[in-house]
Amino acid sequence: MINIGLLGLGTVGTGVLKILEKRKEELIKITGDDINIKKILVRDLAKKRDIELEGGIITDNFDEILKDEDITIIVEVTGDLEEGYKYVSESLRAGKHVVTANKALVSKYFEELSDLAHKKKLALLYEASVGGGIPVIKPLKELIPFNDIKEVRGILNGTCNYILTRMEEGLDYAEALKIAQEQGFAEADPTDDVEGLDTRRKLRILGTLALQGQMPEENIIVRGISNITAFDISNINKMGASVKLIGEVKSCEGGYTAIVEPVIVESSSPFYNVGYEENAVFVKGDNVGDLMFYGNGAGMLPTANAVLCDLMDIIAGSYRLNNPLGNKKLMDLSLAIKGSYYLRISKINGELMDVFKSLADKVLSTGAQFALVTKHILRKDLIDLFENLGIEEKDYFIAKFDKINT
Ligand SMILES: NC(=O)c1ccc[n+]([C@@H]2O[C@H](COP(=O)([O-])OP(=O)(O)OC[C@H]3O[C@@H](n4cnc5c(N)ncnc54)[C@H](OP(=O)(O)O)[C@@H]3O)[C@@H](O)[C@H]2O)c1
Repeated sequence: MINIGLLGLGTVGTGVLKILEKRKEELIKITGDDINIKKILVRDLAKKRDIELEGGIITDNFDEILKDEDITIIVEVTGDLEEGYKYVSESLRAGKHVVTANKALVSKYFEELSDLAHKKKLALLYEASVGGGIPVIKPLKELIPFNDIKEVRGILNGTCNYILTRMEEGLDYAEALKIAQEQGFAEADPTDDVEGLDTRRKLRILGTLALQGQMPEENIIVRGISNITAFDISNINKMGASVKLIGEVKSCEGGYTAIVEPVIVESSSPFYNVGYEENAVFVKGDNVGDLMFYGNGAGMLPTANAVLCDLMDIIAGSYRLNNPLGNKKLMDLSLAIKGSYYLRISKINGELMDVFKSLADKVLSTGAQFALVTKHILRKDLIDLFENLGIEEKDYFIAKFDKINT
């Protein structure tokens, strides 16, 4: 019997139990063994669960799981950053393999935990932490020995993509966010999603693996979608294009660039038709060429599926024992990012309009909502200009053109 300690019984934890139950016979055939969830850790023992559980299986005491020597694999799906870190690091120290879906935890403690797992010759797998149900971490790790990864970019946050898609259908930002919350795509506090912080964590994980060097989360430039208006969407759609929140890491001469920002994609882009809560990840390797991964970026069963694929790799012993992180010294060159930008300012006067018109390739609107397409410029210069002119972030929106005008 393979005994598992499941930490967390919310959306993902419940999905893990459901799939294991549904696929029980197949799993016994494949592994020749019974996969047994021996203990489940939750915060609130009194909470009503919409899944039937054997008596005594649930606990709120992590030590019961940690000290149980029959439990050899831990599945961490609590979503708690610091407690989750404690559970994962203590489990590894106690000689247990770990699967986690916790991107905040992986992003913050990536080097430390990878090192610990490596030293203890244990698996630390986190497929579900990026792209939900999309297999992307494992394929990326498989590419690394044979490729210099040149670029990774993706729509990595289902909430933002859902909001942007609904806005293209005619809703304004507040309405789209409210529906996303009602449908369970957005948290009650959507800050991490809409400000791009969740995308940044996932980009940090992908980028660190892809470029094989240190890429601290806090150094990655981030701009979310909370300032976008129906007016912006209408202007962008009139150009035959769509706007997506994209996280992008690129290897370049002497270093790398990494940024999360709204990007305008034309209809020929592989990102154009990625709608609603879907995610997509593009990877460019010097030998493999261009790859695109696409699918459900979240949700109970897709995410649980990713967790269980990791679990199966541990059971089958088909995970790599090497530390997947490299030690290249990487120079962050993100301040050199250039491009052509869509720009809209809500509070403007004639004098400011003239300043921005000098940057314009094309002026789109000179009314109360001033909008234009810039020439090819340094992003940093544009941001500095807003700051120097005292234009607050809430009063403008920028999105970079992908291909068009660049
Ligand atoms: N939901 C998705 O679609 C999705 C997609 C990709 C990745 N993920 C990641 O998967 C993880 C789990 O997400 P989720 O949506 O399943 O979360 P969730 O629905 O909020 O469930 C969290 C579960 O963990 C338990 N828990 C939370 N903090 C705990 C603590 N400190 N100690 C013990 N138990 C604790 C909760 O206990 P109670 O039930 O007693 O409150 C609950 O059962 C997160 O890291 C998330 O980022 C989720």
